Amino acid sequence: MSTLITGIAELRTQDDDLATLRGAALVVDGDRVAWVGSAARAPAADSRVDVGGRAVLPGWVDSHTHLLFAGDRTAEFAARMAGEPYTAGGIATTVAATRAATDDELRANLRRHVAEALAQGTTCLETKTGYGLTVDDEVRLARLAAEQVDEVTYLGAHLVPPGADAGAYAALAAGDMLAAVAPHVRWADVFCETGAFDESRSRAVLTAAAARGLGLRVHGNQLGRGPGVRLAVELGAASVDHCTHLAPADVDALAGSTTVATLLPACDLSTRQPLPDARALLDAGAAVALATNCNPGSSYTSSMAFCVATAVLQMRMTVDEAITAATRTPARSLNRQDVGHLAAGARADIHVLDAPSATHLAYRPGVPLTHSVWRRGTRVIP
Ligand code: NIG
Repeated sequence: MSTLITGIAELRTQDDDLATLRGAALVVDGDRVAWVGSAARAPAADSRVDVGGRAVLPGWVDSHTHLLFAGDRTAEFAARMAGEPYTAGGIATTVAATRAATDDELRANLRRHVAEALAQGTTCLETKTGYGLTVDDEVRLARLAAEQVDEVTYLGAHLVPPGADAGAYAALAAGDMLAAVAPHVRWADVFCETGAFDESRSRAVLTAAAARGLGLRVHGNQLGRGPGVRLAVELGAASVDHCTHLAPADVDALAGSTTVATLLPACDLSTRQPLPDARALLDAGAAVALATNCNPGSSYTSSMAFCVATAVLQMRMTVDEAITAATRTPARSLNRQDVGHLAAGARADIHVLDAPSATHLAYRPGVPLTHSVWRRGTRVIP
């Protein structure tokens, strides 16, 4: 069953040349994009949808979220807005609530957040464990995540659980816990930060994960300068996320590497941190992605459009750079060739904006601009 989509004012395929096409159309066949080109030369299809002069782009790829959780941290957020610093200690609050939740409660919470993201154009999601922090709880979170999201990451090294010995816990995270979770995930991540996991413990978890065939991601340089970015680059991680506090050497290291710098501006705003220096990274030649970091503590938003608008308005990224950073580059950071672009053969994940151009994402910040969404070739919104 094929569908011809016409009436496209601006088509951003995010294909190799990153061209913005006008007068274009595309054909979806099954779960794939079958054809992209000039509307005047469009092939016949079983059905036709006219999107009425709107902009079309790939669905967002949100490559950093923490959606397996229970509980609420509104009070912590309110205290922060009243001047308290963000310390990541609140992770323990979510760990306690998550351990106490049933599988069905966690499933329902995840389903609600995935649906919320989809309604805003996010068609491919990564999410992490990390609010379990026992072998059984981490396996449970990985298993539940894999039921609903494209990409699952093991984050047993998120926080040393209160009362645990840091060295013993890091050994567990690199040993038995990793072994139990690895069959359920593609990625491993470590929170490499003062107060979480130091360089040598982070290295131990990451190298053990790589030895099991998992791809690597790192939480680095979130709360201060530190070894996270350097370690991620040294170990060939696919992505290092946050990058809020970068030394010039970190920028150079990223620019000379294949590691994507994934920036999480909603988190920096919610934790009253400076915004990352996207311009320095891009101008040096580093690959930059944007993600929501949706979690109940440091960044409780699922809106990729908010991240794109912030990147343009406050981080001096161009609209083109921000859209690439929210589609094609996060797909690359997840080693996914099938999403984040709309060339023939790609997964038909299509985001139609209620606007004639994608520039409106920054021009009209805060306005819900998602008109319709196809995922795997099926129209899911509205
Ligand atoms: O990416 N930094 C570590 N992890 C999350 C925060 C999780 C939380 O506060 O619950 C982050 O910001």
